[in-house]
Amino acid sequence: MLSRLFTTRRYALAISFFWVLFIAVSLAWFYVQYRNNLFELAKAQARIAFEKDLLYRKWASQRGGVYVPVTPATPPNPYLSHIPERDIKTPSGKELTLINPAYMTRQVFELAETEKQIAKGHITSLNPIRGANAPDPWERKALEAFEKGEQEVSEVVSVEGHRFVRLMRPFKVESSCLRCHASQGYRKGDIRGGISVTVPLAIVSAGSSRILATTTATLLLMGIAGVGLILAGASRVSKDSARLEEKNAELLHEVTEREITQEQLREQTVLLEEEVAEREAAQEEAVANQRKLRLIMDSTHAAIYGIDTTGRCTFANKTCLELTGYSLDELIGRNMHDTIHHTLPDGMPAPVAKCKIFRAYSEGEGCTVRDEVF
Ligand code: HEC
Repeated sequence: MLSRLFTTRRYALAISFFWVLFIAVSLAWFYVQYRNNLFELAKAQARIAFEKDLLYRKWASQRGGVYVPVTPATPPNPYLSHIPERDIKTPSGKELTLINPAYMTRQVFELAETEKQIAKGHITSLNPIRGANAPDPWERKALEAFEKGEQEVSEVVSVEGHRFVRLMRPFKVESSCLRCHASQGYRKGDIRGGISVTVPLAIVSAGSSRILATTTATLLLMGIAGVGLILAGASRVSKDSARLEEKNAELLHEVTEREITQEQLREQTVLLEEEVAEREAAQEEAVANQRKLRLIMDSTHAAIYGIDTTGRCTFANKTCLELTGYSLDELIGRNMHDTIHHTLPDGMPAPVAKCKIFRAYSEGEGCTVRDEVF
């Protein structure tokens, strides 16, 4: 019984273990999915930012750059000094300078930085005209990957404890770019560089953190409830089996007792059968004796009959029947005195009180008479 309890507990522990394992795997799986999902969401945001940047750039590039008033924040671009009409004057005398697309993008990114915009960008190249446009290590790797044909590079990076998605796509040389970049030896279709966009994961995780919390809590609750149910079930099962074991033992005891009783009955029956056999043998012997006695009585010439205490005939031999003329059926049960012994030798009726036979059995003495009339 103990071993059975032990087995039940062991089963319960094994099931609990697998249940906890299942919950843990589910939690891990969910967390991985959740993170992947965050990554995909942030990547989608970064792509949108990138495409917007590209669009504005394209607009400026298609126009061969744009003229803006010269200010201390926007001085003429020294890298465009070779471009004729880099700086022009309006008829009223206002000074304008040509802003190339990269210059515009750079200024927009600097503005985004000061305005604490969510998405940050950086225009860069492996072969920068402006030294400050050089790539950081991550961008360098991405640019090298673009040279090998990669179309997009993205990754989750940690900066000072905050996680960001970095995404970069290449800039291909178009005919509009050649006006300013042909001197560097670029041809249409070459990778000129790229824009990298950095988006904090927090902007997408904020919305979905509740899903993470509720799902985690639900899974944990399921885990605890499951283990509770398994253990409760196991204790119920072991209690039930203990009760069953007790019942079983009682039944076994009862069965043994019954077997003992049955054995005793069998012995008794054997004894009874023996007794019956003995009695039957005795009866057979008695019948044989009776037959012998009758034979003896029937073969004598003396008439013999028997009476009971009231004087009624119980048996009569053949000679008795011949002498009296009665049949056996007529005599059996009849008062013998009234039938055959009622008259004295003088012809007077013989009263029972004076009958010698009657006296013989009522007084218990033998008697012999020679002058009887039957
Ligand atoms: C009006 C001239 C002009 C045009 C048109 C132009 N660029 Fe540039 N670009 C420049 C100059 C000048 C720089 C370098 C300095 C800066 O302003 O940052 C530059 C910088 C860049 C950079 C940053 C890396 C570096 O070299 O410093 C990239 C990338 C770039 N250009 C790509 C392109 C592409 C692609 C096109 C066409 C779609 C294009 N540019 C069209 C003038 C131009």
